[in-house]
Amino acid sequence: MPDCVRMRLFAARLDCVGSGSRDAVRHMNAPQLVARDLHRSFEIGARKIEVLRGISLDVIEGEAVFLCGASGAGKTTLLYTLAGLERPETGTVEFEGRRLYEGSVAAQSKLRNEKMGFVFQGYFLLPELTALENVTLPGMIGGRPDKGAAEASLRDVGLAERLHHLPAELSGGEQQRVAIARALTNDPDIIFADEPTGNLDSRTGDTIIDLLLNLARDRRKTLLVVTHDSRLAVRGDRELRITDGMLA
Ligand SMILES: Nc1ncnc2c1ncn2[C@@H]1O[C@H](COP(=O)(O)OP(=O)(O)OP(=O)(O)O)[C@@H](O)[C@H]1O
Ligand SMILES: [Mg+2]
Repeated sequence: MPDCVRMRLFAARLDCVGSGSRDAVRHMNAPQLVARDLHRSFEIGARKIEVLRGISLDVIEGEAVFLCGASGAGKTTLLYTLAGLERPETGTVEFEGRRLYEGSVAAQSKLRNEKMGFVFQGYFLLPELTALENVTLPGMIGGRPDKGAAEASLRDVGLAERLHHLPAELSGGEQQRVAIARALTNDPDIIFADEPTGNLDSRTGDTIIDLLLNLARDRRKTLLVVTHDSRLAVRGDRELRITDGMLA
């Protein structure tokens, strides 16, 4: 996180600046991601489950936010809604001043491809492609394949020696590193990660969280991470908990 952002967060938490300067800080520091009154429910037969029940949230650029909650609490649903992947029934999401879920499907995909990186629950690597090909894929989809950038991303996650391995030839931790390299390859502004440590033992999970936090801080990316592990969640700048469809 940039030092200026860290200082503003610190000042806001301590409430130690005068109100005039606090307003100035807020103005300079407009949130990057703004969600308002999100509602989402699912109907299974006659039963309706209200998963998001009026969630509002602001995330500032460079922040590392961890979202916790029990299994089934709606973490993935909320993350996908914030990332433009699942339209809410009501409510709005704005990213860098642009409303998600508005405009053509192609424009929405372009925005996600250029500005957002995703690390999904369970890696989601294509099994028939090598590590390098998997990481090059978002660039190819965006019409800007860059093998050099993909190789650099894989180097940054410690996989310089595994470029031509297939996912099946990699350990779980290595596959998750490939997924992180893929999320970084288009140089996004924000990274969404859904249970990035979910399939890993706790030590490997710790290294993956370290890697994500360090890469995001060094490259000034915003990070939104879902985890059920509150032990890991305290390592971000802010921890949110979803319970009964609301944030606490
Ligand atoms: N497509 C769907 N159709 C019906 N119900 C769904 C659908 N997607 C999610 N749900 C329900 O919404 C609730 C929240 O699901 P979600 O996947 O967001 O939970 P989660 O907090 O990510 O859980 P986990 O920690 O197990 O991944 C669950 O009860 C789930 O069954
Ligand atoms: Mg989930």
